[in-house]
Formats: sequence, structure tokens, C-alpha cells
Amino acid sequence: MTSSRRSFLATAAAAVVTAPQAGWARSADRIHVLKDANCGCCTAWIDILRQGGFDVTAENSLGTRLFRFKQDNGIPRDMTSCHTARIDGYMIEGHVPVADIRRLLAERPDAVGLTVPGMPYGSPGMGPEDDRDAYDVYLIRRDGSTEVFSSYDDA
Ligand code: CU
Ligand code: CU
Repeated sequence: MTSSRRSFLATAAAAVVTAPQAGWARSADRIHVLKDANCGCCTAWIDILRQGGFDVTAENSLGTRLFRFKQDNGIPRDMTSCHTARIDGYMIEGHVPVADIRRLLAERPDAVGLTVPGMPYGSPGMGPEDDRDAYDVYLIRRDGSTEVFSSYDDA
């Protein structure tokens, strides 16, 4: 881990302490996350969701069980990341930005959900946004195919 990543995570952790409680969250803001127990980036992403006003519950899962959960819920094999979440009937795979989740919930396409495959550097929870690599957020259709939902340029 580089020192810039470490200081980013420390800053993110400090911000959570002062973030207002999302006590009045609507049910659509309730998101449940399955994650690896030893994955720091999962926790960093969860902190970002909380700062974004989501009411987050999290559960640790083991490798095989977590992978099975992804498959059973329509995440294509080659489009997986670390954590897997469910919100209001949609699946959210990996380090998807808050803005894309909000847009998904507003547009409500007939789809499985969103994924950011792999763990692109500089995506939410994966280090500083101002130093990020380019990445795409994909919409997963019900037939398992995907299309680009939004694109983030490298910074
Ligand atoms: Cu990750
Ligand atoms: Cu993760």
C-alpha cells in the first residue's frame, strides 16, 4: 500500500466519525453488502456509501460462498470484483460510485444491476480519485450481457 493510499484511507475513516447519521434513510437507501473479512477496500467503499447517505449493513462471507452468491444473483463470471451488494432489487458489484447507484435507483432500468469489474485504482474505496485510472461502470442486463453505464477518465 502506498503512503498516499494509506493517508486517503485515514482521511476517509476520520470523515465517517463526523458524518451525520442517516437515521431517516428511505428503504431505497438500505443496502446490504457481502464482503471478504480481510478486505480493507470493501470497508473503505462502505464508508463512502455511508457518507453518501446510504443505510449500510455488511456481512462477511467466504471466498467460495461469496462467488456462488455473485453467480446466483446474475453477476457474470468475468465481471466480478471483491464485494457484492443488494439495494432495492438491484445488485451492485465492486467499487461502484454513489452517483451511479443513485442514477440506477432514479432510472430503474429492467436489469440485474451495476458492476465495476476488478478493483480499478482510484475508484471509490480504492485510493485517491484525483490519481485514478480510467474505468467504466457497466449495467448488467437480465440476459447476462453488459453495456457501459458511465465512464470515468483517468485523472
Ligand atoms: Cu475492493
Ligand atoms: Cu470490496
